Amino acid sequence: MIWAGKKVLITAGPTQEAIDPVRYISNHSSGKMGYSIAAAFADAGAEVILVSGPTHLEKPVVNDFIQVTSAQEMYEACANHFHHADYVIFCAAVADYRPKDVADEKIKKSDSTMSIELVKNIDIAGTLGPQKAKDQVLVGFALETENELKNAQSKLQRKNLDLIILNSLRADGAGFGHDTNKITIIESNKITEFELKTKKELALDIISYLSNRS
Ligand code: PMT
Repeated sequence: MIWAGKKVLITAGPTQEAIDPVRYISNHSSGKMGYSIAAAFADAGAEVILVSGPTHLEKPVVNDFIQVTSAQEMYEACANHFHHADYVIFCAAVADYRPKDVADEKIKKSDSTMSIELVKNIDIAGTLGPQKAKDQVLVGFALETENELKNAQSKLQRKNLDLIILNSLRADGAGFGHDTNKITIIESNKITEFELKTKKELALDIISYLSNRS
């Protein structure tokens, strides 16, 4: 497949949900998997829009780099570009919840426990997936700690994705933060497992998989 002329929207990294001006809720996503995919698509000639949560990585050379912090900001950036994208890769680890109220001032330490009320964030893939055009291809990622295949397959259907990439968190060197990952691509009843490899190598495998299915 020729990637020149194809527009690819990619989300990467974590989101951060503010508690007060100095604290937030987040997760351990480093952005490495998403940035590797963005760089590989750009090298293959695609027009790449990368929507990234906060990371410590060097920006890859892409056509449009959009820096966001929260899930809501990530959703808004994605919604602006979704309908023009041929491929959308939802690689970000979006926080599912955010504090209901964000304190204007740093919350003072109390002598006992402290509670934060959380409300649900928008599901970016779950909101945009059902708006998918006929010729768009949507790819999700799944991070599971139990019933991996079943849960990933259910997310594939629920979010109206074409395929979902399951991280094998049980494998050493896979998942958050590492330079390597172990993935399984799930597409309806077709399941393709990959060896533990660098995220850069897997990004090439993902592109090659997508090239061969079209
Ligand atoms: O960044 P690294 O350190 O390299 O790690 C890579 C990774 C493990 C973060 C990545 O490969 C990965 O698995 N990302 C998705 C993690 C995740 O949030 O999985 P999930 O099962 O909770 O979500 C399923 C899908 O819905 C994902 O495509 C996710 O981007 C999307 N989602 C989830 C919640 C939400 N509110 N909005 C979303 O769009």
